[in-house]
Amino acid sequence: MKGNIPSRDPETAHRPVRGATVWLTGLSGSGKSTLAAHLARALRGLGCATELLDGDQIRAAAGAGLGFGRADRDTHVRRIGARCADLMAGQGIAIVAAISPYRATRDECRALVESRGAGFIEVAMQCPLPVLIRRDPKGLYKKALAGEIKNFTGISDPYEPPIFPEATVDISIESVDSALRRLVQIVRVKTT
Ligand code: ADX
Repeated sequence: MKGNIPSRDPETAHRPVRGATVWLTGLSGSGKSTLAAHLARALRGLGCATELLDGDQIRAAAGAGLGFGRADRDTHVRRIGARCADLMAGQGIAIVAAISPYRATRDECRALVESRGAGFIEVAMQCPLPVLIRRDPKGLYKKALAGEIKNFTGISDPYEPPIFPEATVDISIESVDSALRRLVQIVRVKTT
């Protein structure tokens, strides 16, 4: 990847004086996981203790029995929020990539993290639905449109976008490198 952030150079290493949670929310395929993984790598390279919490992976590893109805999504998202809050005690950085479709539940997670004296950076991953449907790498939109997957976010289930996100990223018009640079800068400001 071009424009990599230098690794563990004492001149540039960033030592957070408080923790922060970077919460990437948006529809399936909007680039959350990719950007979150790049951000985690970049922040670790700067010397920050960083944990990546990817909704898809957490569901696969520990989501036993949790489906995609509102109650189950809320349980899943609250668990992620609780993990973030725990990490804030040690000036850690949590990076979340989860659809987390409900505004009130994301706001609960924000309040919990901020109650620990840490920063909360909500990143709205905005990609036009027609682009997501056209790209559809996992073929999920096709199945959802055919009615083969019920309660699919953006097609047959609601998504409530953030009203005042700290950042907005649309990977249909911005490169990952460019978004990454912006987010690293916001993390620096919020943890200093
Ligand atoms: S969340 O809504 O509970 O935050 P999460 O980010 O953990 O969702 O998982 C979303 C992933 O699950 C999607 O990227 C997709 O691969 C898969 N998925 C399977 N069924 C659904 C569905 N009904 N709605 C949305 N995503 C689904």
